[in-house]
Amino acid sequence: MNVFVTGGAGYIGSHCVKRLLAAAHQVTVYDSLIHGHRQAVDPRATFVHADLADREKLPGVLAFGGFDAVMHFAAFLNVGESVEKPLLYYRNNVANTINLLEGMQRARISRLVFSGTCAVYGVPERLPITEDLPKRPISPYGTSKLTVEWLLRDSAKAWGLGSVSLRYFNAAGAAADGSIGEDHRPEIHLIPVLLEVALGKRESVDVFGTDYPTPDGSCVRDYIHVEDLADAHLLALELLTPGQAEAYNVGTGRGYSVLEVLAAARAVTGHPIPQRLAARRPGDPPVLYADPDRIKQRLGWKPRYTELSDMIASAWRWRQAHPGGYGSE
Ligand SMILES: NC(=O)c1ccc[n+]([C@@H]2O[C@H](COP(=O)([O-])OP(=O)(O)OC[C@H]3O[C@@H](n4cnc5c(N)ncnc54)[C@H](O)[C@@H]3O)[C@@H](O)[C@H]2O)c1
Repeated sequence: MNVFVTGGAGYIGSHCVKRLLAAAHQVTVYDSLIHGHRQAVDPRATFVHADLADREKLPGVLAFGGFDAVMHFAAFLNVGESVEKPLLYYRNNVANTINLLEGMQRARISRLVFSGTCAVYGVPERLPITEDLPKRPISPYGTSKLTVEWLLRDSAKAWGLGSVSLRYFNAAGAAADGSIGEDHRPEIHLIPVLLEVALGKRESVDVFGTDYPTPDGSCVRDYIHVEDLADAHLLALELLTPGQAEAYNVGTGRGYSVLEVLAAARAVTGHPIPQRLAARRPGDPPVLYADPDRIKQRLGWKPRYTELSDMIASAWRWRQAHPGGYGSE
């Protein structure tokens, strides 16, 4: 297929681009580079440096690109920032997705794989989280992603869009070949923050909340390797049902506490990684982990990485080779 990839210069998008190319698909990346990195884009992909807000450029590229499908990663994803600047988040995550869908409808592109998130569930009423649990996001970020799921559902009915929303849990790790990795600026994700401490770029890591109703008092999350996410995207693209909006959880189904992740990172890096105990952050659910059964049954997906230490080790290899991230060796 000829695939249009928004946000393909970002962390998860760039790994999916490599996976698409490995499966002999043709790829065009469309990214504003507001957060992504040009170096993360595989040179075999066509690169368009533009914003989804550009209502002249975007429809033109879609109309004349001959695309069979779209993978939509471009979004803002800092939960805390979304609380402070909700309009920015709705503008980029919702309004710009409407621009994309309008362009797709006009260009008659009717396959889409969308970056969803476990944040649509808010504080789940049961664990593990199944797809049918109530969607009660507790941040503008989560609400913006749920709104896009509604746009996809309504577009299926109105003009036959076939879509898959992949509700990722916490993405982690880096490409096995060491070519690309995670470099968010500012970095807000736990594992890369721990690795920055191990590299001497930060003094310590803050553990937000030590009085949660969990075995060790810290938050529990489900970590999913970015290459397993890439596999899920490929399967979703190839197996999506035309004219239907589907949604799948993508996680391993196992939760690790923040303190367990810290211990694993200390073991992988051999660095003491000092910690500071801090207050809970508003809007952090105590425990999130997936029931990934639906994607396993329906798409035949299976994670290759199930051990947290393997995920951290792959991230560590990339970070050691690129201590300053992209653009600085
Ligand atoms: N990282 C995670 O753990 C995680 C978890 C759940 C869901 N997600 C979702 O996955 C997607 C990718 O996340 P990521 O971690 O790779 O983030 P990222 O910031 O590394 O990648 C997003 C990319 O989109 C681009 N972009 C943003 N707005 C744009 C716009 N208006 N026009 C063009 N390009 C634009 C950025 O430049 C960046 O390259 C996001 O939609 C995010 O909400 C991520």
